[in-house]
Amino acid sequence: MKTRTICFANNKGGSGKSTTCSNIGYFLAESGKKVLLVDGDMQMNLTLSLFPEEEALAFAAGENLYTAVRQQKDVRSCIRPSAYPGLDLVPSSTLMSGIEYDLFTKWQREYILKKCLQPVKEAGDYDYILIDAPPTLGGWVMNILAASDFLIIPVEASPWGLFGLSNMFEFLSEVKPIAPDLQVAGIAVTKVDGRKNYFKQTLETLQELPARVFETHIHLDSSIEWSQDNSKPVGKYKPSARSSKEYRLLAEEVEKICR
Ligand SMILES: Nc1ncnc2c1ncn2[C@@H]1O[C@H](COP(=O)(O)OP(=O)(O)OP(=O)(O)O)[C@@H](O)[C@H]1O
Ligand SMILES: [Mg+2]
Repeated sequence: MKTRTICFANNKGGSGKSTTCSNIGYFLAESGKKVLLVDGDMQMNLTLSLFPEEEALAFAAGENLYTAVRQQKDVRSCIRPSAYPGLDLVPSSTLMSGIEYDLFTKWQREYILKKCLQPVKEAGDYDYILIDAPPTLGGWVMNILAASDFLIIPVEASPWGLFGLSNMFEFLSEVKPIAPDLQVAGIAVTKVDGRKNYFKQTLETLQELPARVFETHIHLDSSIEWSQDNSKPVGKYKPSARSSKEYRLLAEEVEKICR
């Protein structure tokens, strides 16, 4: 199977990008796929979702995505196996905060991440590469989009969660010449509060946008926070949790759509 690269991006902070990226990655790996998670954010949340803080900080001090991108080299030397079969990670570093500046003077600066990931794709070791983007819309996120086949936009089911989505779609049309083959796989609705009837309105608004909305919605669930506190995917931490069942279903949808 060809390696599919899927990124999780939305300029709105806290919309569930890192949570969705790590948990979909876990369930794809659990279903027998080989998955490489790539932490593209200086906040290191994807790294922290699988590794305790001390280990994450040790990665940040060694080879990581930032060092690879700065040196424009193959990311394979930065890959760390996780505790779960089939699930590996390219960790991030807090120094990623300087990445926009580092990219600025580079030749073909939109394609540096794509080049760093190319040897991984050519080796064919992974079914999926999942990239977690930071909550920005700049040159680095352009790199992430240009390196991806598919984009998943996690959206928090709240009024402010929807605000700014139009910027995201405008940005996507600007990026179109740089990433002509990128497909929007869909909008993943996260952090749904089932007690609020506001949610119905959220869904109606989302359905007006030029993108599919995934059928599985992820509800607010404190097991997510507990699982992250324990550096584990929720599917491992508490398989019976509502969000665990939902992320399993969402991963199945993603597998069907991102072919
Ligand atoms: N379904 C959920 N139930 C409860 N809490 C959640 C859920 N999904 C995410 N969260 C919490 O919401 C916060 C934001 O989630 P997350 O970090 O995944 O968003 P993000 O879009 O990656 O944020 P950023 O833009 O800062 O990168 C986190 O503290 C996370 O624990
Ligand atoms: Mg994040």
